[in-house]
Amino acid sequence: MRILSGIQPSGKLHIGNYLGAMRQHLELQDRGEAFYFIADFHALTTVKEPQALREHVRDVALDYLALGLDPARCTFYRQSDIHEVPELTWLLTTVTPMGLLERCHSYKDKLAKGLSPDHGLFAYPVLMAADILIVDSNVVPVGKDQKQHVEVTRDIAQRFNNTYGLEVFVIPEDRILPETGVVPGIDGQKMSKSYGNDIGIFLEGKALKERVMAVVTDSAPVEAPKDPDANNVFNLLKLFVSKEEEAEWRERFLKGGLKYSDAKKRLIAVLDETFGPARERRKELVRRPDYVEEVLREGARKVRPIAAATLARARKACGID
Ligand code: ADP
Ligand code: TRP
Repeated sequence: MRILSGIQPSGKLHIGNYLGAMRQHLELQDRGEAFYFIADFHALTTVKEPQALREHVRDVALDYLALGLDPARCTFYRQSDIHEVPELTWLLTTVTPMGLLERCHSYKDKLAKGLSPDHGLFAYPVLMAADILIVDSNVVPVGKDQKQHVEVTRDIAQRFNNTYGLEVFVIPEDRILPETGVVPGIDGQKMSKSYGNDIGIFLEGKALKERVMAVVTDSAPVEAPKDPDANNVFNLLKLFVSKEEEAEWRERFLKGGLKYSDAKKRLIAVLDETFGPARERRKELVRRPDYVEEVLREGARKVRPIAAATLARARKACGID
């Protein structure tokens, strides 16, 4: 079974990204032949600042490697190193109906926000289809927000196969990451970079303390009983502690006499426990930039022959050979 997923390099990753996506990617490394890549071509649709893009790519690579992505157990590469991807994208665009792309939610959402779209944003799902199809992926673990793009990929692959009467592409399975629920940000809304309410995975010390202390709570007096489920600190804490500890905190909230700052201190401690080892690994990796680059190059060396074979099949099918 081939597993593939892409990660957009659009800034520092936060604990919502970790619980919602990265953790599952790491677990899947042992369930099949896993391919993970940094989607830098996709990022160009939103990041138009070259130095920022370079830094984001490096940051995502460091984050994933520090958190346990193991180049010995999966193939980790940079999308733009696979020159076959944009070529396959073109072949796919010629069987992609405009209407299919016009119906994509992520595109429609951006239009609704008043963004003036460029062709890259419109064609985004076709590039994603090329990423997926080029390595004959069977399973594409993505969050709910990307489900429609995987469906578009299946549709494009079937249209190509039907147009040329050949089984050129493997039809990927539409598997969605198990719902972990939405991780709340420090203001209680969905945690997101774009809302500025995120807690970075690699924050530590004073910076982490300040961030957690800024988690919004109400002004109920210490002695008042409190509703844990309506409290942002509790809702974050429960994602990282055992079921028993969660029950204890629930009890303390309901009973009254709880200081929010005590729950916040515990949250800082569990974040330190959960991410402490990864933070140390990340510091070591930062000192070895050549290693990170070598991992990505080696990943590309493994993917390119696979990509070249798929592209050759597709070219031949449509008469360009
Ligand atoms: P952001 O909203 O911060 O820009 P992305 O859209 O880049 O994050 O998210 C990448 C992946 O991380 C998503 O597909 C989703 O699975 C996961 N993710 C992001 N934010 C959250 C969250 N608050 N709760 C759960 N999962 C999340
Ligand atoms: N669009 C995905 C996201 O924003 C990233 C991505 C690009 C991707 N190509 C992919 C995910 C191929 C899965 C498969 O999260």
